[in-house]
Amino acid sequence: MPTESPAQVRGNATLSFDGRSVDLPLLTGTENESAINIEKLRAQTGLITLDRGYANTGSCKSGITFIDGELGILRYRGYPIEELAASSTFLEVAWLLLYGELPKPAELESFKAEITRHTLLHENFKRFFEAMPKDAHPMPVSAAAVVSLATFYQLPENEDNLHNAVIRLIAKMPTIAAYAYKHSVGLPFMYPKNTLDYTSNFLHMMFANPTEDYPVDPVVSRALDLLLILHADHEQNCSTSTVRMVGSSRANLFASVSAGISALWGPLHGGANQEVIEMLERIEQQEGSAEKFVTRAKDKNDTTRLMGFGHRVYKSYDPRATILKKACRDVLDQVGVSSRLLEIGMKLEEIALRDEYFVSRKLYPNVDFYSGIIYKALGIPVNMFTVMFTIGRMPGWIAQWLEMRRDPEFKISRPRQIYTGPAKRSYVPIAQRG
Ligand code: ACO
Repeated sequence: MPTESPAQVRGNATLSFDGRSVDLPLLTGTENESAINIEKLRAQTGLITLDRGYANTGSCKSGITFIDGELGILRYRGYPIEELAASSTFLEVAWLLLYGELPKPAELESFKAEITRHTLLHENFKRFFEAMPKDAHPMPVSAAAVVSLATFYQLPENEDNLHNAVIRLIAKMPTIAAYAYKHSVGLPFMYPKNTLDYTSNFLHMMFANPTEDYPVDPVVSRALDLLLILHADHEQNCSTSTVRMVGSSRANLFASVSAGISALWGPLHGGANQEVIEMLERIEQQEGSAEKFVTRAKDKNDTTRLMGFGHRVYKSYDPRATILKKACRDVLDQVGVSSRLLEIGMKLEEIALRDEYFVSRKLYPNVDFYSGIIYKALGIPVNMFTVMFTIGRMPGWIAQWLEMRRDPEFKISRPRQIYTGPAKRSYVPIAQRG
């Protein structure tokens, strides 16, 4: 693990209320981000804080990922996302997130070999997929498959067994994803192939048939690897916080990650990439104009939102979207598919970025705005987009879970509330209720 600098205490903030005042420590992180530590607030004052959606709440100290939403900065373990996207690979980034440093060549080779040896699913798993309805969305199927791994690997979570669980999750997620897809289209499952690298193996399991080979296009494989790198971690987002929260009850790693997959599925989170492509297709087929759609997205009486726009943390351009916007053009050119949806996307972005509504609210494209266009160009079916995100986010979820469980200040997650229901009243027997 890298040497982490603990958060520094740099004085106090004073809270005054009802004629009293208390001092609360001010904490500063590595990048000078500051927080008021309220861990003793209730014990000292009887007060709690109210922060719907946790927009102002730091739930942990973490040494994994740094984001500056105002400046559009994203770094994994200190390394800028732009450098990792340009030069690294997904498995190298997975190692970095898990172990804190870039791997040495021998470490990376042995990690890749271990992952390759664990890609198979237990044969009984085939019956699990067969039990699902034909039109089952692959996200809940993936979530259910991942929690089912806990039934196959039941050993106590000591360090050795945890290492195996980590390898199994990263290795088996692409197999689970491909099987969920093959089942949904009624095609035979393809076993993983140990001669292929991580992303090529996934593409093989998705698109090969027992009757014919699928030569993996290196352009497609590299583009997919890039997307997985960009998705690999994003500090305390909704799904990661879910993984940490479930794990904080000491639920096992498979169960915690499965809960994260369910959280990721929502259209306000990872499900947005599917919604973006559906939005672009709707605009192409029916709406006629991007302007009309943007007008609807601004209307308070209309629930339409410009999907792939806005972010809880980024109040400037999402750095992942910057990388993907460029990659989009390259991938479309290289695989030779129509750029119609990209053109609509760029038009939408252009309109939104000069519209007062989006400018004043600091709404910019997020990672999902361009990722769907690339997935589509790579031939990934639309209902698999969020599953792709799941494969990418796996090392981040695991790294965050491990950090939480190894934290000497570990606590079960248990927020409080302001109760707004009825005050105390007495039970009324049913016969007396008019
Ligand atoms: N289209 C139109 N208006 C929007 C959008 C949007 N995409 N996003 C935010 N707004 C508006 C809100 O209506 C609100 O306006 P108001 O101040 O007049 O009430 C204001 O901007 C602030 O929005 P909130 O919802 O309060 O911002 P929050 O930080 O809670 O939500 C979120 C962030 C959920 C990502 C939001 O921007 C959104 O719904 N975006 C579309 C879905 C999406 O792309 N999600 C993917 C996020 S990236 C990821 O999870 C991988």
